[in-house]
Amino acid sequence: YEAQPPAQPSAQVLVASNRGPVSYTLGTDGSLDAKRGGGGLVSGLSAIDDKLWVCAALGDGDREAVRRGVGEPGVRMLDIDADVHADAYNGIANSVLWFVHHMLYQTPLEPVFDAEFRRQWASYEAYNRAFAEALAEEAGQGAAVLVQDYHLALVPGMLRELRPDLRIGHFSHTPWAPVDYFRLLPDDIAEQLLHGILGADRAAFLTRRWADAFIGCCTQILGGTGRTRIGVHGLGADADFLRRRAHEADVDERMAALREQTGPGRRTIVRVDRTELSKNIVRGLFAYRALLDERPEWRERVVHVAFAYPSRQDLAVYRDYTAEVRRVADEINAVYGTEGWMPVVLHVKDDFARSLAAYRLADVALVNPIRDGMNLVAKEIPVVSDHGCALVLSREAGAYEELGSDAVVVNPYDVSATAAALHEALTMAEDERAARTERLAAAAVALPPQQWFLDQLDALRRD
Ligand code: F6P
Repeated sequence: YEAQPPAQPSAQVLVASNRGPVSYTLGTDGSLDAKRGGGGLVSGLSAIDDKLWVCAALGDGDREAVRRGVGEPGVRMLDIDADVHADAYNGIANSVLWFVHHMLYQTPLEPVFDAEFRRQWASYEAYNRAFAEALAEEAGQGAAVLVQDYHLALVPGMLRELRPDLRIGHFSHTPWAPVDYFRLLPDDIAEQLLHGILGADRAAFLTRRWADAFIGCCTQILGGTGRTRIGVHGLGADADFLRRRAHEADVDERMAALREQTGPGRRTIVRVDRTELSKNIVRGLFAYRALLDERPEWRERVVHVAFAYPSRQDLAVYRDYTAEVRRVADEINAVYGTEGWMPVVLHVKDDFARSLAAYRLADVALVNPIRDGMNLVAKEIPVVSDHGCALVLSREAGAYEELGSDAVVVNPYDVSATAAALHEALTMAEDERAARTERLAAAAVALPPQQWFLDQLDALRRD
């Protein structure tokens, strides 16, 4: 693992990812509405002059924008055939690779690698090839190309063949599966994925644990990592942005509304996630129910604020999971709720301002994923918390490596232990909670997004 390198002079930088920095919605009147996203890559690239972001057109709005030639400077959207994209994104990336790296399969029905899987795999290859060809076409001599995530695992190898002059990096935003689990994949597919990433000069991960798992797979399946260097860059929270944004008027308004909903004087246990199976929202609700059941002194005195933003709703398993989250929350409210107290406040809708309001109000943050590459919510809450917030954190989140010593740590499967951790967090002395929050916030901002990106770029150019 490399030490952080010094800054380097700028040259052309290309980034490739499935989801790009902008998306378009097609209005009924034919208008196109652009929505710009945030995140580590957007912030990192802002420091670069000569840049291009290659991404996929994801919906009707994006596709229409490509057809009309509408776009942002520095962004090239690839209009890949919609069926090919659906197979690659929903079929392979999100239903197979995501499940392998997050260890989400449940026997006896899954996984099944059959002819349908092979058909989808051909789409995944075609989708990766479209990216490799676009990058090969756009990149200047010796440019740096940073390829993102499990969607594009084959791109580094394909691009290396087309353009041996380029400096190619690959970054995994997810965990990496331990070798025994990774071996669920058909042997040729496992090898192809590893060779794909090893086409990069440098493969990087969010934590040492995921990097070690990747090295373990390469060593045991291929006999080594070849000439590819392995790096670790733990993305941190963007403190300046968050602190500014969390004090804008719309967040204040939502705080007032939320306070009214939770009721005066009540403690809050806050969680904010996508409706994502790996986030373990249902077991979090079970733990909260166990708390109310086993420690009735908390009834009427605490509210579980759960914000779950719809994600990957094209997949039945995600729709079912979202329905299960709603069902369990409703059941808790029906069993324990009283005239003036709703035990769970659940919102299944994307609203960043409301999330920030909840961050500021939280007494306890519940972050209990089954597995998670990093989990930025665990880092963001201590940074914007108004009065200090105790963090209940899964030991399977990447953030655990950096925040574990000041969190109340849980095994995400252990509902009883999570209930006990919630009680411990709720009863933590105020001065201890404040001191821990301060240390958590300091650890959370250690590698802000722009630095995270520039460090990767410098290491790629230097190695
Ligand atoms: O964790 C991997 C990741 O690609 C994140 O970078 C991103 O926030 C998340 O998955 C969202 O996935 P999708 O693009 O499928 O909504």
